Amino acid sequence: MAQGSAQAQAAEGLHAAIIMDGNGRWAVARGKLRTAGHLAGADAVRRTVEAAPDLGIGILTLYAFSSDNWQRPSDEVGTLMRLLRRYLMAETGRCVENGVRVEVIGRRDRIAPALVRVIESAEQATARGRRLLLRIAVDYSARDAILRAALRLRDSPHPRRAGEERCELSREEFSELLAGSSEKGAHDVDLLIRTGGEKRLSDFLLWECAYAELIFTDRMWPDFGAADLEDAVLQFRHRERRFGRVVPVSARSAAGAHAGDTGAPAARAAVALAP
Ligand code: FPP
Repeated sequence: MAQGSAQAQAAEGLHAAIIMDGNGRWAVARGKLRTAGHLAGADAVRRTVEAAPDLGIGILTLYAFSSDNWQRPSDEVGTLMRLLRRYLMAETGRCVENGVRVEVIGRRDRIAPALVRVIESAEQATARGRRLLLRIAVDYSARDAILRAALRLRDSPHPRRAGEERCELSREEFSELLAGSSEKGAHDVDLLIRTGGEKRLSDFLLWECAYAELIFTDRMWPDFGAADLEDAVLQFRHRERRFGRVVPVSARSAAGAHAGDTGAPAARAAVALAP
């Protein structure tokens, strides 16, 4: 991430990312179909989005559907897509009122065109929101995102490196490729929460989580609410973030002191572009 972008991110508040796990088990424990768990999970999304800005969260990224989730039974996939559509249609107005900008990350080419239109219209309608950037990951795979950035580099070198026979690429420049923008890098995650008791990353924001603080809770996602989010942010505030240094980085600068901004020599990887 470029220096200016990291400062901008610090000004934007914390980046919290959530792996919303446990919907199925929550439903089964109540003698319901798994899809009922997703329905209740959508309510937890509403509660969480509403609570986030007052807790100092400026960016909230939610893992709604991984690229591997296509392997679930088709009725479950259908329910998840319908819930996303319904959520975007019902909540866009409220997002505009509350200064929430919606952005959907992940692949769009495998999503039904009607849903893509709903996504685009929610993104356009909320584009001026400044209180919270709500990113919903749909058909998302961190490995695929990194792979696509690498392929973009192969097919058309980074703008600042075009014309160089041997391309020396910094972390910040690769981060810009990952974000698909030469203005800003990918949003580094400050705080990653996973509900549902499992302790893994499941191909979510692997590059962006390089220095994320990880918080795992046994709470099933449909039961998650404002108090749980507040508890996670409090835990985060008590963590010592050192970014590889001996001395902790202060809470204020921590949100902007990501790997590329530590004052250390920029790590560069050489990529041969010419055969
Ligand atoms: C994981 O729980 C959850 C998902 C794969 C989907 C998350 C979707 C929602 C919370 C609702 C829709 C989202 C939005 C943004 C409106 P799981 O089913 O794998 O739970 P399990 O581990 O108990 O089986």
